[in-house]
Amino acid sequence: MTLRRQLRWGAGLAALAAYALLVACGEPDRPAVSVVPAPAPVEGEQVVDNDSPVFKTAAACGRCHTEIYAEWRESFHGRAMEDPLFRELSAEVNKEECIRCHAPVNLRDSGFETPVARSDLREDAISCLSCHQNGGNVSGPHGGMESAPCRPIQDADQVDVVKMCFVCHNQHDTGNEWLRGPYSPQAPEPRLRPVKTCLDCHMPIVERPLVQGGPIRKGRRHTWFGGHDMAQLRLAAELDVEVTALPEGGGHRFRVFVTNMGAGHAIPTDARHRSFDTYVLLRDKEGRILLDPTDPQQQGRAQLAKFRKFYRGSGKRDTQIPPLERVSTLGEGLGYVDVPEATSGTGEAWLVYRLTPRDVLNSRSLKVEEAQLWLARVVVRKEFTYGP
Ligand code: HEC
Ligand code: HEC
Ligand code: HEC
Ligand code: HEC
Ligand code: HEC
Repeated sequence: MTLRRQLRWGAGLAALAAYALLVACGEPDRPAVSVVPAPAPVEGEQVVDNDSPVFKTAAACGRCHTEIYAEWRESFHGRAMEDPLFRELSAEVNKEECIRCHAPVNLRDSGFETPVARSDLREDAISCLSCHQNGGNVSGPHGGMESAPCRPIQDADQVDVVKMCFVCHNQHDTGNEWLRGPYSPQAPEPRLRPVKTCLDCHMPIVERPLVQGGPIRKGRRHTWFGGHDMAQLRLAAELDVEVTALPEGGGHRFRVFVTNMGAGHAIPTDARHRSFDTYVLLRDKEGRILLDPTDPQQQGRAQLAKFRKFYRGSGKRDTQIPPLERVSTLGEGLGYVDVPEATSGTGEAWLVYRLTPRDVLNSRSLKVEEAQLWLARVVVRKEFTYGP
């Protein structure tokens, strides 16, 4: 079973799901997002209290905001309390200190600083109201919709990523990495890249009605694709290979460079258990494999480097790749391998992504694109030739 399926709320909902293609121009190809129909209204749910929002649950918002709800439901914000790894490490969601970012009250109530754990509706994880509640109103970027049933108001905080995204995504410096980098509004002149915020890369603009039958407006997808999503990972990095002949017919040296082409922060970023690893596969002239990263015996030798933010107390220096940098190693691994028996033939450089250090690299890693528990995935393959 794929992670996505394991994580879905119940077979009932999945069975009901009607599939709609929500692919807009210019976005990478991805499987269609399933539009999960929102459950029917709950008796007595609608309160008429000016200090409290009219609708409480994400599913209630989803009755009108169908597409946004479907995207959120599939996203890791919608699943932050059911993610199997989170459940394991939080003692089956019994560690209170973990709940505050995985199922918080609305961020405004904590002044966009330290989030506070919600006491109810924890299954809604990072819910619509976590980000949108503003007293008895919901806030959005547009304004002029005050007569809508959810009492929307316009609020500049809603689009200020330093407030909205930094609250939870700066504990491991992702926010600061962006501020220091080439996409930040603070980047020095001459700019290497135009300003791009977290929203520009993680909530792409889409033109569509916000509710069924409503006018078409410029809004944003609520997908937040990240390390679980292959298309997003492929935007992040490029590979190139440098082959040098060793003296006196001693084979070749293979060095693989990774360039952080597309991420607004270091790669990997945030969670300390993520890593990008480089490997090389080699064949001789006859096509026989000389070095195979999927062979457990040869895997150590075939691995050239590891890029990662290590656990606190590991004593290791971080080896994440900053935006736009091209490196073969930052300290973990040599960044190359010398192979005396490689005189001439072909090869492939691999960029492998691990969600956790436990993720295994094997022949399935080449085929599987969707995130699966404990499986490393090959994100980029770059072919090359060597020798005469
Ligand atoms: C300050 C906010 C904050 C707190 C507190 C917090 N987390 Fe998280 N957690 C995050 C963010 C942000 C991410 C996403 C990071 C990423 O995607 O790289 C995350 C992701 C994770 C993941 C990765 C899940 C996956 O999909 O691989 C695990 C596991 C996790 N947290 C466990 C915990 C545990 C266990 C605790 C309590 C000890 C905890 N978190 C407390 C903010 C927090
Ligand atoms: C009964 C239907 C309905 C429900 C339920 C509902 N909304 Fe709305 N919402 C609307 C309508 C209608 C609009 C205005 C759409 C338009 O004019 O394009 C709107 C607009 C919005 C906006 C845009 C505001 C702006 O100025 O940009 C936000 C944000 C919003 N809703 C959030 C929510 C949230 C969060 C929930 C659940 C707590 C929710 N809505 C529940 C009908 C609903
Ligand atoms: C209330 C805390 C919180 C806020 C606010 C928040 N996030 Fe997250 N985010 C998380 C947590 C927790 C996860 C990981 C959930 C999991 O995997 O269990 C996450 C995951 C992600 C991911 C990774 C998805 C993946 O594939 O693993 C991206 C990208 C992301 N968030 C972007 C954003 C952006 C952009 C914003 C600002 C609009 C934002 N987040 C605001 C807590 C938050
Ligand atoms: C992690 C925070 C976060 C969560 C969770 C979240 N939103 Fe949003 N939402 C935003 C941000 C940020 C924007 C504004 C984007 C912009 O600048 O246009 C937005 C915009 C909107 C808008 C305005 C139209 C648009 O597409 O931009 C609506 C409506 C909306 N959200 C509804 C919802 C609903 C319904 C849910 C739950 C199913 C939800 N949001 C969950 C952060 C969030
Ligand atoms: C220029 C585009 C760009 C900008 C700007 C950007 N990101 Fe990313 N982000 C990416 C790409 C590409 C990836 C995939 C690579 C990866 O997961 O390491 C990614 C991955 C992530 C992840 C997933 C990490 C994981 O462990 O799964 C998180 C969380 C995240 N970004 C948060 C943010 C936040 C918060 C901001 C703003 C402070 C931001 N991003 C700005 C492009 C961007």
